[in-house]
Parts: sequence; C-alpha cells; structure tokens
Amino acid sequence: MAEIIADVRTRTERPLLAKLAPNDPDIGATARVAAEAGVDGITAVNTLPGILLDPVTGRPGLGAGPGGVSGPALFPIGVEAVRRVRAAVDVPVIGAGGILRADHALSYMRAGADLVQVGTGSFADPRCAERVALGIAGAAAPDPSAPPSAP
Ligand SMILES: Cc1cc2nc3c(=O)[nH]c(=O)nc-3n(C[C@H](O)[C@H](O)[C@H](O)COP(=O)(O)O)c2cc1C
Repeated sequence: MAEIIADVRTRTERPLLAKLAPNDPDIGATARVAAEAGVDGITAVNTLPGILLDPVTGRPGLGAGPGGVSGPALFPIGVEAVRRVRAAVDVPVIGAGGILRADHALSYMRAGADLVQVGTGSFADPRCAERVALGIAGAAAPDPSAPPSAP
C-alpha cells in the first residue's frame, strides 16, 4: 500500500485518499502507513466481505456469490474504525458506513470524522445525503411525502 500511494503521489497534485477496510485488525497502524506515504486523507470504511447462502439449497442469495456488506450493519464498525484512525493520524478522516440519518453522521463526527459519506442510504432514498447535511446543519429537511402547505 505504501509503495502504491508513494507512486501515485508523484503523479498527481490532486487530493489523494486511502480508503481502508473494516476487517483490518490494526486499522490505526494501516492509516499511519498511508499518511506517512503521502495521502491527504483517509476514508474509513469500505464494505465487509459477506455472503448469503440459502439454508436449503446452499446457493448464494446474490448473483455474484460473496459481496460487500454495507449499510446499517456497518455503522458501529465504521464508527469504531474512525475512532481508531483519528487516534493514529492527523490528516482529515472521512467516515462511511451505515449513515442514513444526521445522528449517524454526528456519531462519526464525535468519533473524529472531518467529513462523512452516504453510500447505501442513497439507494433507499436519493435525497438521503441532503437530509443528512440539512440535519447536521440543524435545518429541518423538507418531507417529500408531506402535502403541500396551505398558502
Ligand atoms: C453497490 C456498492 C458499490 C460500491 N462501490 C465502491 C467502489 O467502487 N469503490 C469504493 O471505494 N467503495 C465502494 N463501495 C463502498 C462504499 O463507498 C462505502 O464505503 C460502503 O458501502 C459503506 O458505506 P454505506 O454503508 O454508506 O454504503 C460500494 C458500496 C456499494 C454498496
């Protein structure tokens, strides 16, 4: 990882982020290696490997077989990863994993995230990131299902 980051660093002045895996037994140490190799920030976390198997047939529940677990199951894992990364490095940290609401994002920020990412939440609700951003700012997000207000 350090070799790849150092090489990419010589090829661009654009912001360079390393995105780390949650199933890393020492994610803080990995973040430190990435920071020392020249990244501008760390994103924590990517998905966790997982698979669904039909209990009767044994067939995978998803067409590709194994895949990446994202969304709510990843939330506490991501927050803990951000806490560990924050303790290890001084570069900006982007928190990701299971953010569906503003309070999820705020938990990541409490753990030390400077920025947050909304991934899976956007599949369920394309305006999820907007709701989260408005919630963080303390503004009430408009409810799209609410009837038009009276003039
Ligand atoms: C369908 C899907 C595709 C993804 N593709 C990528 C990808 O190409 N590169 C990457 O770094 N992370 C990818 N991710 C991981 C997400 O960016 C994110 O780190 C992870 O899903 C946790 O956040 P979430 O729970 O908000 O989705 C993907 C996730 C999903 C669900």
